[in-house]
Amino acid sequence: MKITNEKLDIDRILYTPEQIAERVDEIARTLADRYGGERPVMACVLKGASFFYIDLCRSMRSHIEMDFIAVSSYGSKSKSSGVVRLIKDLDTDIEGKHVILVEDIIDSGLTLKYLIELFSSRKPASVTTVSFLKKTDCGKQAAQADIFGFEIPNEFVVGYGLDYAGYYRNLPYIGVLKPECYAE
Ligand code: IMP
Ligand code: MG
Repeated sequence: MKITNEKLDIDRILYTPEQIAERVDEIARTLADRYGGERPVMACVLKGASFFYIDLCRSMRSHIEMDFIAVSSYGSKSKSSGVVRLIKDLDTDIEGKHVILVEDIIDSGLTLKYLIELFSSRKPASVTTVSFLKKTDCGKQAAQADIFGFEIPNEFVVGYGLDYAGYYRNLPYIGVLKPECYAE
């Protein structure tokens, strides 16, 4: 795969940086209202959720703890392998704490299901799941987010943290990747 200019590989832009910023602020307000005086642990699922997570944490005006977890379900392909691998665990002991799990996108829902089960086994006070995007096929998803940013068509998207084979994460918008740029 040869990438000379990432923008040329984008079929169309779904969400601009301005639309993203507005929605992230709304979600931050929803979370701040919901958690009131609590001090939740915000858990970022690396690497895809990184941009969303940082913007969300920065918009929160209440006390939070920040932590990171890394899993892999995709390898370099555009379809889920269905097998989720834990690459880096949280540093925080979440027992008795309120946890906000921050994901980039829910496709099959298998990654989210894995993470909810993993977190629940550690006896947190609660787990709320937030995903920046979800694909429309939600009937078939193994798990769903409590809060999500945008619902998108079943196309492969990149940017704002989302990658294909490690590339395109740094694009400031959410764009649909041209099908010729990825192998099924
Ligand atoms: P799921 O386990 O099928 O729900 O897939 C979730 C993970 O796959 C996400 O955390 C993403 O890293 C990746 N993923 C799913 N759909 C896309 C997409 O359209 N673009 C980029 N990554 C995706
Ligand atoms: Mg990914």
